[in-house]
Amino acid sequence: MVGFVTFEGGDGTGKTTQIKALESYLTSRGKACLVTREPGGTELGAMLRRVLLEAGGAPIAPSSELFLYLADRAQHVSEVIRPALAAGKIVLCDRFTDSTLAYQGYGRGLDLALLRQFNGVADAGTRPDLTLLFDCPIEVGLGRTASRQAQSPSGAPQEDRFEREQLAFHEKVRVGFLDLARQEPGRFRVIDAARPAADVSLAIRQVIDEALR
Ligand code: TYD
Repeated sequence: MVGFVTFEGGDGTGKTTQIKALESYLTSRGKACLVTREPGGTELGAMLRRVLLEAGGAPIAPSSELFLYLADRAQHVSEVIRPALAAGKIVLCDRFTDSTLAYQGYGRGLDLALLRQFNGVADAGTRPDLTLLFDCPIEVGLGRTASRQAQSPSGAPQEDRFEREQLAFHEKVRVGFLDLARQEPGRFRVIDAARPAADVSLAIRQVIDEALR
């Protein structure tokens, strides 16, 4: 039985739109679900998210960044994810532990074995049953975030700290995610996110229908 589903992938791979579509699909089939995200799924998390993504240009060392994500996760698991799973809901979570491995590990170069231990403290044993990895070429994803910013009402640049990173950083993150998926083929499904949104939705429904069967 699938309860905890996480959505992972680089910036601009379309996760957020697809999670909303999946929520409607599951709700229409009578399944109770909860949509949430990291960072920012709790009140504390919303504060941490502002620090992490905006930070007003103040430098954040890689290990400080790591602990902020972990603090967000620990609060999120205890306050939101575990109670929802205990109530029998399907939890659809936009990013989770694999983002820490991909961004802080493969991207920033922190030790992966250590990150797995820290993730274990933060998730307190709550692990995803299924992880959908949204994969697409870096240029496609970053092109989407750029056009999202151009359409923002103020027209002001709204890139977050990660979107300002070099292409090489995003490439390492992508390779990292694919590596993680290869290591755990039972939990991961890689979704080709470069396709039109309708095709991606269909692929996700097939995966979920199969998982719920
Ligand atoms: P967000 O705007 O939520 O990204 P997206 O819409 O692409 O999912 O920003 C979250 C950023 O935080 C994203 O660039 C990935 C990063 N991140 C980490 O570096 N480590 C983590 O553990 C998590 C959860 C996110």
